[in-house]
Amino acid sequence: MATTFLERHRKLERNVTLLGVLAFAAVTVGGIVEIAPLFWIDNTIEKVQGMRPYTPLEQAGRDIYVREGCYTCHSQMIRPFRDEVERYGHYSLAAESMYDHPFQWGSKRTGPDLARVGGKYSDEWHVQHLSAPRELVPESIMPNYDFLKAQLLDQGHMVPALQALARVGVPYSAEAIAAANDDMAAQADPEADHAPLLKHYPKASARDFDGDPKRLTEMDALVAYLQVLGTMVDVNAPAAQEHLAKEQGR
Ligand code: HEC
Repeated sequence: MATTFLERHRKLERNVTLLGVLAFAAVTVGGIVEIAPLFWIDNTIEKVQGMRPYTPLEQAGRDIYVREGCYTCHSQMIRPFRDEVERYGHYSLAAESMYDHPFQWGSKRTGPDLARVGGKYSDEWHVQHLSAPRELVPESIMPNYDFLKAQLLDQGHMVPALQALARVGVPYSAEAIAAANDDMAAQADPEADHAPLLKHYPKASARDFDGDPKRLTEMDALVAYLQVLGTMVDVNAPAAQEHLAKEQGR
């Protein structure tokens, strides 16, 4: 019996087309078995308490971050190594980038990781640093982004932007999408009624981010985005700790 099996296999090894077709079939089946379940099992990315979609203003800031190529020098993922955790804070959880399209993990750190830069500095620091990095950090090689202060934020286009994100799975409600342009303006205006914004985006912080309360600029959006990075999940809260323990199989 062993010989017949080997003989049959010999035929297969000598017919390059047949071998190619069958090898392709084997790899396809193996690939499907490995990859397909990730799209259905619930715990590929578990929800962690505190995660919410970005507000329209933060999302607009994120679009500016991508447009300006900040990711070419900054990563947004703290790896679970001691040196990284000591420098940047608690390592990043998968859930913390679950609403990022496209994600900004990055592979290049000319500048520091920004995954937890939110709340590390004041808004004024960010505005000054983005405008003229070398005034605050003399040895910095980061470019000046002072034009962001002068450029008015392109308003009125947030509805299709959130619709597109909702289509790829970000849970924006129909009501939040309809209110996107109002929520964007309200978040940067300390005088506005913030109730609808907070209803759609719990714990969102609303204030004038760029130091110029009269105008809604691209600087407002970018600073709002930087200030929320890594702050949604309270990694030291009991719920997050429980999640981490489960993730690590403890
Ligand atoms: C050419 C590379 C480069 C680009 C592009 C760049 N940065 Fe930087 N960035 C740096 C370097 C280097 C530092 C460290 C020195 C400093 O603080 O200026 C830095 C520091 C920072 C910091 C302070 C981080 C901390 O923890 O101290 C922030 C925030 C920041 N950059 C945001 C941005 C944003 C937003 C953009 C895009 C608008 C951007 N950077 C584009 C190189 C870059």
